[in-house]
Amino acid sequence: MAQSSKQSDGVGVIGTGLMGSAIARALARGGQEVMAWNRTMAKVEALRSDGIEPARSLNCLLENCGLIIICVSDYDSAAELLFTAQVEQRLKGRVLVNHTTGVAPVVRKWAAWAAQNDIGYLDAAIMNYPKAVGREDCLVLYSGCTASYQRHSAQLANLGGQVKYLGEDPASASCFDLGLMGFYYATILGFLQCAASLSSEGIDPAILPSMMPLFRPIIEDTFGIANQMISKRRYEGQQATIDTHFAALGFLRARAAEENVASDLLATLENLLGAAIDIGYGAQELPAVFEVFAARKDKAAHRQTHHIISKAV
Ligand SMILES: NC(=O)c1ccc[n+]([C@@H]2O[C@H](COP(=O)([O-])OP(=O)(O)OC[C@H]3O[C@@H](n4cnc5c(N)ncnc54)[C@H](OP(=O)(O)O)[C@@H]3O)[C@@H](O)[C@H]2O)c1
Repeated sequence: MAQSSKQSDGVGVIGTGLMGSAIARALARGGQEVMAWNRTMAKVEALRSDGIEPARSLNCLLENCGLIIICVSDYDSAAELLFTAQVEQRLKGRVLVNHTTGVAPVVRKWAAWAAQNDIGYLDAAIMNYPKAVGREDCLVLYSGCTASYQRHSAQLANLGGQVKYLGEDPASASCFDLGLMGFYYATILGFLQCAASLSSEGIDPAILPSMMPLFRPIIEDTFGIANQMISKRRYEGQQATIDTHFAALGFLRARAAEENVASDLLATLENLLGAAIDIGYGAQELPAVFEVFAARKDKAAHRQTHHIISKAV
């Protein structure tokens, strides 16, 4: 890509840390013309051998590329780079895809800023590690301006085989990103707790990954049932009550303590089930714990309303 001031169909990637580099490489592998800029130039120079052209400056990248992707540590750093009159002018009429992890209110503010400046805005989330970017099994979420997504969907498809556009609300990708990350951490920490518990008994946990597919049916069955129950907010069933699960967790936690394995995760799970029992769900099925999570949100909303009313009177 010639570094003139003529906009091309090329893609510009701002931020070539671990994830930004993987994005730039996947685009280049997919046959896109890719230019990249990074605060620390050495990281972008290292991408030359992957067919990625280092931009002399951020302005140079903005002038040359029709589609701009940013992936830096956080939204504050992204704002430092892009919230200037000069950059806003250069981005006018182009599409900006933000792969930086952020929270819904901030994403919505960015979408409003983009709309004010005639910039097509998409928020994005890669639900995997850099090594998976561009792979068939890599899930990538987009949300925001539909026309912008349609315009660049073929280029963005290079980032993964499982690309999902979630609609006009720019914050949808971020909401799923944060929700699924919470799910990921809870699952992996559960796995690590299990491995530590086996090790403490002198059992090699190496067999665990091969056992996981055999354990998957009960997990997937519980997802399905939980989904049905949550949609009706009714949790009666004939399989196992929360009282039974609570007793099992108490037993697991006590055994972990005897094994000298950290029992903090199990204690947290036990507390959540205990809270479900306290609000009357002891005789119902496990998905009723949804009401404990939801009740915290209701309480927060109540506190906020109370605060607004007390300020008003
Ligand atoms: N790694 C993952 O597995 C993964 C997965 C999904 C999502 N993400 C998200 O992707 C984003 C980047 O993560 P990463 O793993 O690539 O992190 P990283 O390797 O630490 O890279 C951070 C990038 O941000 C740049 N940066 C930070 N502060 C800056 C500033 N004030 N001005 C200009 N540039 C700045 C860094 O530039 P320098 O090189 O100059 O420091 C670097 O390019 C994060 O929002 C992360 O949550 C990461």
